[in-house]
Amino acid sequence: MSSISESKIHLDVRERVQTLCRDIATHDYHYHVLDAPLISDAEYDHLLRELRALEAEHPELVLPSSPTQRVAPRPLAAFDTVGHRVPMLSLANAFSRAELESFDRRVRETYDGQVQYVVELKIDGLAVAVRFEHGHFVQAATRGDGETGEDITANIRTIRSLPLTLRLPLTLEARGEAYMPRVAFTKLNEERAEQGLQVFANPRNAAAGSLRQLDAREAGKRNLDVVFYALSELEAADTDPKSHEDALSLLARAGLKVSPLRQTVDSIDAAFNLCLEYQAKRHTLPYDIDGIVIKVNNFDAQRQLGATAKSPRWAIAYKFPAEQVVTRLLNIEITVGRTATLNPTAVLEPVAIAGTLVSRASLHNAEFIAGKDIRIGDLVYVAKAGEIIPEVLGPLVDRRTGAEKAFVYPANCPECGTPAVQRAGEVAWRCPNPACAALLRERIIYFVSREAMDITGIGEALVANLLAHGLVQDAGDLYFLTREDLLKLPRLQAKSAAKVLAAIDKSRGNSLERLLTALGIPLVGTKAALTLAQGFGNLEQLGTARYEDLVAIPDIGDKMAASITEFFALPSTHTLLDKLKRAEVNFTYLVNLRFTGSHTGTSLAGLIFVITGTLPGLSREEATGLILAHGGTVSGSVSARTNYLLAGEKAGEKLTKAQALGVAVISLSELQAMLKH
Ligand code: IVH
Repeated sequence: MSSISESKIHLDVRERVQTLCRDIATHDYHYHVLDAPLISDAEYDHLLRELRALEAEHPELVLPSSPTQRVAPRPLAAFDTVGHRVPMLSLANAFSRAELESFDRRVRETYDGQVQYVVELKIDGLAVAVRFEHGHFVQAATRGDGETGEDITANIRTIRSLPLTLRLPLTLEARGEAYMPRVAFTKLNEERAEQGLQVFANPRNAAAGSLRQLDAREAGKRNLDVVFYALSELEAADTDPKSHEDALSLLARAGLKVSPLRQTVDSIDAAFNLCLEYQAKRHTLPYDIDGIVIKVNNFDAQRQLGATAKSPRWAIAYKFPAEQVVTRLLNIEITVGRTATLNPTAVLEPVAIAGTLVSRASLHNAEFIAGKDIRIGDLVYVAKAGEIIPEVLGPLVDRRTGAEKAFVYPANCPECGTPAVQRAGEVAWRCPNPACAALLRERIIYFVSREAMDITGIGEALVANLLAHGLVQDAGDLYFLTREDLLKLPRLQAKSAAKVLAAIDKSRGNSLERLLTALGIPLVGTKAALTLAQGFGNLEQLGTARYEDLVAIPDIGDKMAASITEFFALPSTHTLLDKLKRAEVNFTYLVNLRFTGSHTGTSLAGLIFVITGTLPGLSREEATGLILAHGGTVSGSVSARTNYLLAGEKAGEKLTKAQALGVAVISLSELQAMLKH
């Protein structure tokens, strides 16, 4: 091929890479900032995959602002320090209407113009200062002591709602709160509990722990978010905001996420009413707030009011009273988790907290109970960690009567009696018996759960019943259950039995990521399951993958890779997979069942396809789905490794390149002929 056409190809690829970067950034903005996505997740993934493939083939075209470059590949040795050009102050607090009224009086004594207040949520996270130069994200720092903070650029860069390029080419510093949404917090703690690691007490601590990671790959997995609440510096721009409200709307126009719930009011009464309103509905928000911030809107007024050494006189935080209750600890029960951890649970005298009645709460682990000297019969403080999971905080020691009993952590599994073990470096105790009845039960319960195989109609009681009657030993046996088997069980009507069987049958067609989740491989949650399903396409490929193949997949770390290879080496895994295979449970990743129908197979296993041009009656995504569902792989660009170029009408440079490299070019009907069902 001549060098001219080669450089032409290169130019086209460069343009495509730039377009993809821009389009993905736009979709990130609509999804993460506006919360109004323009395309489906599958379409988004497709764009990202195409970009990844092009960048892998042409590393020289990788742009620093590419969405694939959010996560630094190597950990830092230490954080650098950053001097704040404008000190990062904190806020004075108010706990009552009277305190807000005296704040308002002080404001009006100093400023005689018309006072307006902007009322904002006080999200409970960590303050960050983020710099953009000519529209490009350059640095992020923590508050530190207010004068100097730590350089957490690499960690903040992983937050997907943060644009790497602003929508306006501004040089500015914005301040905001980095935080962990509740859903991410719950998930992280579940994963940590599973791994026998200490759980975080609340989303704030979890966010702080995540931003303190020297390895941005770790921070990037934590699903942090950032909302901006101040413009601290703005260089030579056409606009000159005159008020806080103007400044926030400039930040929003630049593409940054600012609190959508802010409101401007004319009196402290109106501001206080909003405080009460949010205090009542704080539990309905997707993140924790610990108060409401009230700020004087007008910048002239702010300048006149000035600041003390610690905080501005033009703003105040109304803090919500902490929600903690006292109740009696009736008992401590140990339950066996599906990863064999022995989890202590407090049985409480029922008590209302944050709008729900609580009768059980987490006690974390043996060390926690011993460290806090929590005794059965104690009155204990209970709070909702991250406002969701109730937890015992500690005992009221002076209210003891002497009748309380110290809790002796059982040395054996409460279900099967096997002596419990503690792995090096872990706080959790585990039952080491792979045949433990509780473990089998918890695993099957997880297998059928909504996030895994989603088999409706099978609940905890039915699983326990099936095990007790010897009808199942593992989840694989579910697929061999008959109507007669089910009717042997007490209290199961013919109609429910039929429903259960239909739900089991339907789950055979689930895409691979559900099955992978359901297998309960330690450390592999729903997100990693999807990544693995996309990366390997089918279970056989994953099951035979080496450690090196696994860590080569983005987002699969060394611990997870080791856990996966360990899992596939277990005899019990082989027994289970054999059963699932005999039961004809689908082992392949189906991009989207809508596009592939129920047809799946392995006839394209090991083959790499590239798609180009317009295919008759099939979108690019549908064709990708079809190939993946039959075990093939789809790459974004043609190389010597490509086996087939699937070409439609108006095929462009990819066709030329394929021909030059001697890659077989096929039509859609030829592809369809290759799919042996
Ligand atoms: S304004 C100069 N606005 O609360 C005033 N702070 O001690 C700077 N926070 O460190 C803060 N939401 O981390 C402001 N809407 C909001 C906020 C907010 C949360 C945090 C911030 C700050 C602390 C106040």
